[in-house]
Amino acid sequence: MIEADLVVHGIGQLVTCEPTQGDGPLGLLENAAVASRHGQIVWVGPTTRWQGRLHLLSHATIVDAGGCCVLPGFVDAHSHLLWAGSRADEYAARVRGQPYWGGGIMRTVRATREASLDELLHAARRRLRGYLRHGVTALEVKSGFGLNAETEERLLRVGVRLAEETPQRIVTTFYGAHVVPEGVTTEDYMAELLSVMIPRFRPLAAFCDAWCDPGAFTAAQCRRILNKAHGFGYQLKLHASQLAPGDGPRLAVELGATSVDHLDYLRDGDARLLAESSVVCVICPGTTANLRLVGEESARALAAAGCQLAIATDHNPGTCCSENMCLMIGLACQELGLSPEEAVRGATLGGARALRLQRQNGSVRLGKRCDLLLLDAESYLEIPYRLGVNLVETTICQGQVVTP
Ligand code: NIG
Ligand code: FE
Repeated sequence: MIEADLVVHGIGQLVTCEPTQGDGPLGLLENAAVASRHGQIVWVGPTTRWQGRLHLLSHATIVDAGGCCVLPGFVDAHSHLLWAGSRADEYAARVRGQPYWGGGIMRTVRATREASLDELLHAARRRLRGYLRHGVTALEVKSGFGLNAETEERLLRVGVRLAEETPQRIVTTFYGAHVVPEGVTTEDYMAELLSVMIPRFRPLAAFCDAWCDPGAFTAAQCRRILNKAHGFGYQLKLHASQLAPGDGPRLAVELGATSVDHLDYLRDGDARLLAESSVVCVICPGTTANLRLVGEESARALAAAGCQLAIATDHNPGTCCSENMCLMIGLACQELGLSPEEAVRGATLGGARALRLQRQNGSVRLGKRCDLLLLDAESYLEIPYRLGVNLVETTICQGQVVTP
């Protein structure tokens, strides 16, 4: 008998995201049950067998899934969670035809610099509760709206605090190389990044990210920044080719980055190069739709080439203020032409890979964290079909029911 302190039985369709465990690319199992102990999956099998196989501990939780579809928890691999203020007015202006010029970023930077650690923490906690309601059990939290050493450090400290207090798994990223802030020369800002911020923030951040696009940083500048970060032990990420085709995807491969993110504009050969590498391609369908970027051709090209894909929210105040992963899956299918299987896998195991969490997150397998979503649906196909509806009814994080 296997000892367990949680069992979820009566699962109509279990999406394991492990093709070796079930049918099709999502490894589907019908009429299944999952059990965990101390937050770790200890048994997966037919729901008719759990009573004969499991010894439930006295305080165990028993959840009857009632025939619904169960997925691994969503992993949002790209989120700019930490900021103050609102840019809802900018959004309204943009849908009336104003271009996105990136200038609104400095508005958020000014509001963020004025906010105290407690104010930032309060705002981030609210957003995290929203994430929990939408079934996100692991996510990235980037800095990048401070753009000076003092505020970037404050943001990363908020990220570390959140990681300590929330049931969700949080990975912090230092994103000082978002844009050059107003009032500072590029040369001076580069010097501050390279000699002050990158060396100082390593204990606070697992990843370092930089934005390679017109109006942000050149590929040469990103190379210097990320090489420096690598030397200090950060894992690397790159925002690239969000606004125009460029050298970012190539640079990500050259540097052995964990992921390259956005990729709305690809050059010939980029998809093949990325497919031959271990770099995960993080697609942000909400931003693509918001900015009315081309996107579709690129996402299909990446999928067709066999790239490892992740689907993320890009949660940020300017281009996608959402934590709704069901919507991102829907947009990935409807706007970018991915299949439901590609999108669901990208929002779970793909996201875990983009954060280097795949050993413990992103799929339902023995030994992994027991992060599960019970949907108000019988099949994962309902997620894109019911576009934008949050179908998550119950969230289980590390073997605990945490639905807010
Ligand atoms: O990911 N690409 C960089 N920055 C953000 C947008 C930031 C903003 O507009 O506030 C993004 O889309
Ligand atoms: Fe982003």
